[in-house]
Amino acid sequence: MKTVTCTAPVNIAVIKYWGKRDEMLILPLNDSISFTLSQDEMCAKTTISISPTFTEDRFWLNGKEESLENPRIQNCLKEVRRRASKRKLEDSASDTLSWHIHICSENNFPTAAGLASSAAGYACLVYALGQLYGVEGDLSYVARQGSGSACRSVYGGLVRWYMGQADDGTDSFARPVAPPHHFPDLRVIICVANDSRKKIGSTIGMRQTVQTSQLMQYRIKETVVSRTDDMMKAIEDKNWSEFCDITMTDSNEMHAVCQDTNPPCVYMNDTSHSVAALVHRYNDIKTAAGDVSHKICYTFDAGPNACIFVPGAVVEEVVGVLVRAFPPSPTSNSVPYVTGITTHIPELSRELKNLADEDAQPCGHLKYLIHTKVGDGPRILTDPTSSLLDPATGLPKLQKEVEGESNL
Ligand code: DP6
Repeated sequence: MKTVTCTAPVNIAVIKYWGKRDEMLILPLNDSISFTLSQDEMCAKTTISISPTFTEDRFWLNGKEESLENPRIQNCLKEVRRRASKRKLEDSASDTLSWHIHICSENNFPTAAGLASSAAGYACLVYALGQLYGVEGDLSYVARQGSGSACRSVYGGLVRWYMGQADDGTDSFARPVAPPHHFPDLRVIICVANDSRKKIGSTIGMRQTVQTSQLMQYRIKETVVSRTDDMMKAIEDKNWSEFCDITMTDSNEMHAVCQDTNPPCVYMNDTSHSVAALVHRYNDIKTAAGDVSHKICYTFDAGPNACIFVPGAVVEEVVGVLVRAFPPSPTSNSVPYVTGITTHIPELSRELKNLADEDAQPCGHLKYLIHTKVGDGPRILTDPTSSLLDPATGLPKLQKEVEGESNL
């Protein structure tokens, strides 16, 4: 039996991918740029075993056996195996390619966080497959065929997914554009909103936007290309203030085209808008004080949770402001309200108290905050105890059913 275990990170786009030019190959209508987040707080983990004794391909996701029929998973499997056979490895690879496969995958972060777990899930699957079959070179091209945004989780730091021009998608891949510490000591706060509305998934939402939104045509033709250039320049110049402004503008534009979709795709809720307004009020204070290097910025994916990028120097006061403006529900005492990196909330200045109180919300509008940072790309775990599959049987060590959404 041959076994590999890997972890892969979540990424959050600052120039959004929204809309495909080819649905089958998952080719986007524009380039996108993202930050990869630290795997200490959030990651997908996948163990893959192959053995001549396995009688069929099997797949377990978050503790539950699932069908491997999913065409996106099949595309990833086919593409890695195709590359492996092309390499004609000297070892027994040609044999191993005919062995059946067992895949076991899970997330280490609560699915209640509602974060796009498919990016981490597919990046992890493809990375582990690549390790298993000894496939070298860029795997973002393969991960893209699982879920578009997954191609950016194959690398750490700031990553750009190039939309490419070719019809067969061969030039649509991701590349790192800056290492994790490019903006030193950058922190990320994810504000997990209490929200029970049923969401339209990204795949369907973006399809409807492309089919019905005129504003989307404007985005593709007039704004997003030059904004991506401006973002690359802001990154190159380490211009944090500019980076913040572009990030918020692009998030707002993505949600505007969602709203312009027929029927509208509504992802942000009242809490999301309150968080966004608070970020702008905070930035007004920093700008008035001539301290634009301590500005912060939000971005929202296809859900109500704000992801806020914050310079480390002000992260504790920003968490303090958020906790004051969005107090925890008194009934959720068992769970810490601020998770992740240890955060000591300071006594806030009068100005910051006023800022938080200006639009303070009733308790419980946010479930909790995750304090994390920017991180690196997928990792290989060599310690055999980290495997999700039993080395003797190739079956999951823990066959418990975990409640939650699919990460693949
Ligand atoms: C809003 O990658 O989940 O997070 O390619 O259809 O699987 P598919 O969509 P997905 O879309 C993510 C969109 C987004 C913005 C982004 O990550 O760029």
